[in-house]
Amino acid sequence: MKVVILPGDGIGPEVCETAVTVLRAACASSNIALDTEEHAFGGAAIDQYGDPLPPATLEACLGADAVLLGAVGGPRYDEAAKKGAPRPEAGLLALRREMGLFANLRPSRLFEGLEEASPLRKSVVADTDILVVRELTGGLYFGEREEGSDRALDRLPYSREEVERVARTAFEAARGRKGLLTSVDKANVLATSRLWRGVVEDVHKSYPDVRLEHVLVDAMAMHLVTHPSRFDVVVTENLFGDILSDELSAVVGSIGLAPSASLGEAGKPGLYEPIHGSAPDIAGLGIANPIGAILSAAMLLRHSAGEETAAASIEAAVAWCLADGLRTHDLGGSASTKDALDAVLSAL
Ligand code: NAI
Ligand code: MG
Repeated sequence: MKVVILPGDGIGPEVCETAVTVLRAACASSNIALDTEEHAFGGAAIDQYGDPLPPATLEACLGADAVLLGAVGGPRYDEAAKKGAPRPEAGLLALRREMGLFANLRPSRLFEGLEEASPLRKSVVADTDILVVRELTGGLYFGEREEGSDRALDRLPYSREEVERVARTAFEAARGRKGLLTSVDKANVLATSRLWRGVVEDVHKSYPDVRLEHVLVDAMAMHLVTHPSRFDVVVTENLFGDILSDELSAVVGSIGLAPSASLGEAGKPGLYEPIHGSAPDIAGLGIANPIGAILSAAMLLRHSAGEETAAASIEAAVAWCLADGLRTHDLGGSASTKDALDAVLSAL
């Protein structure tokens, strides 16, 4: 299995290196031949090549079985962008588009022992286990843009085909879980949301065994903190999915725990990354929580290698460590990134 590693910026390299070490260990014990290749990406690639997604990096990603990414961005690049420099985030958007990654899977479940880390009451957060399927290559993030200091414009386009393919991914996922799909939109206001709702209804005809409900995004933001345990799979457009999955990651403990898989057509390489950003406030301190990145490596083994046993062994090791009391600073503890790595490796 050929995996391209894109460490990126801030805590990206710290959590990425940790995840690769765990991935290597899991592959070694399952006899999976793993070949890794590191490439410049994001701000680090702007520093080196003046381009957040250099051609050699893109080529390597397209030719790999999977890509493991840390995070990109930071204040230094935000400042430079004001003077016209490219943004690291532009590299991420371009990579998602070039790899055709239209479905972003973001699982959030409450790990045993983490009830106290949730800002919600134990009785409310108990049994929360949600998979958000976020559309990743359409909507506002890819619509036409006009910058301006007096007037600016962002467009939110969606086509039937774009909604159909991500809806199919979500129905398939719901079929393999509790069989409930919640489609989130703003159909009382947005034209694209009315298209979204209609297309999801059409795709539902092929999945009569899955229960489908529609919820408006503002109500959904509320339900996720009042009744998170009643949901199973949630499918939504790019921006709503970005916001709701960050909310959900905090509901089950911390954004540092949350992994993601971005998938395109079957047989094409997937991209795996924690959902957090480069966390400039804690970069270089060695205290970042690497679990989101480690669980992303587990998703890589599942979705891009078909190695369910190896994937489940990493997830079990992480669950065991958390139940055993492993707490990085974002979870109110004092374990370092290295402590977390050592704990997961020995549990594995
Ligand atoms: P962020 O996710 O980097 O950080 C938000 C807060 O969560 C911070 O207080 C941070 O310390 C904490 N945090 C995040 N990950 C953590 C971890 N693994 N362990 C412990 N604490 C953690 O979001 P923020 O601050 O809004 O953005 C920082 C930079 O990251 C920006 O330049 C942004 O554009 C970029 N970004 C990049 C993303 C990506 O590469 N996929 C996604 C989101 C933001
Ligand atoms: Mg986000």
